[in-house]
Amino acid sequence: MDLTQLFKPKYKRINDPFFKRLSSSVLGGNMLLDGNIFLMDHAIKNMPENSCVFEIGCFGGHSSVGLLHLIKKHKRSADLYACDCWVYEGFNDHTGKIEDHFDGYTSLKREDFMNYVKANYQEAVKLFHPEKLPYTVALTSDEFFNRINNKNECIDLFDRKVKLPAIGFAYIDGGHSYEQCKKDFINIDKHLINKGFVLFDDSSKKMKFGSALFIKEMMENPGYELIDQNPNFLFKKR
Ligand SMILES: C[S@@+](CC[C@H](N)C(=O)[O-])C[C@H]1O[C@@H](n2cnc3c(N)ncnc32)[C@H](O)[C@@H]1O
Repeated sequence: MDLTQLFKPKYKRINDPFFKRLSSSVLGGNMLLDGNIFLMDHAIKNMPENSCVFEIGCFGGHSSVGLLHLIKKHKRSADLYACDCWVYEGFNDHTGKIEDHFDGYTSLKREDFMNYVKANYQEAVKLFHPEKLPYTVALTSDEFFNRINNKNECIDLFDRKVKLPAIGFAYIDGGHSYEQCKKDFINIDKHLINKGFVLFDDSSKKMKFGSALFIKEMMENPGYELIDQNPNFLFKKR
């Protein structure tokens, strides 16, 4: 048996010691696939000038810290903009039976846990990227775009006024229902610059999320070209 085949990584990945260390250092390490990091690396390297990176769904900061690392690594001038409402998503919420506590642990309220996650996010980005803090707004993506589209202004976690520049690369990792994913894409599309990229988390064919369902529409969208599938989908605006 050819053992090199047995241990061959299933998806393309980048060789970067920072990410190896990061996954065990910042909350949420198991949520970011190596395959996504490969696609993020491509998008950040190739995104148009004079645009920002935008992320929906930051959780404890693992992907945000990673995105900022890639921006620095590729010597891009882009800032990171992000939003998250820090709402707990329980394993069984989809059944309609929504509990108020941490899964399998009644003494911890969901709200307290998410406040802990949000505080971790702030600490992580301050620790790793104090000179390039992401403009992060604690709102749902719908609320965020509502504010931006109406006034183009919000206040972020670090008390700064946020005006959203043109987006050059968007990472969608917030609500994973079909409806939310579609709304997020429609909102991003209005701000995404031509030749800009959009990456959908949990969109791989094997996934059961609504985000995977939405990809069928993206494949038929004449305004977008499929760049890669690793196993999640990265598109480029034509
Ligand atoms: C899977 S986690 C994100 C993980 C993060 N990108 C990482 O890799 O470290 C999903 C996040 O999306 C947030 N979220 C869920 N629905 C959202 C919505 N409608 N708008 C903004 N954020 C949302 C949740 O609060 C949660 O923190």
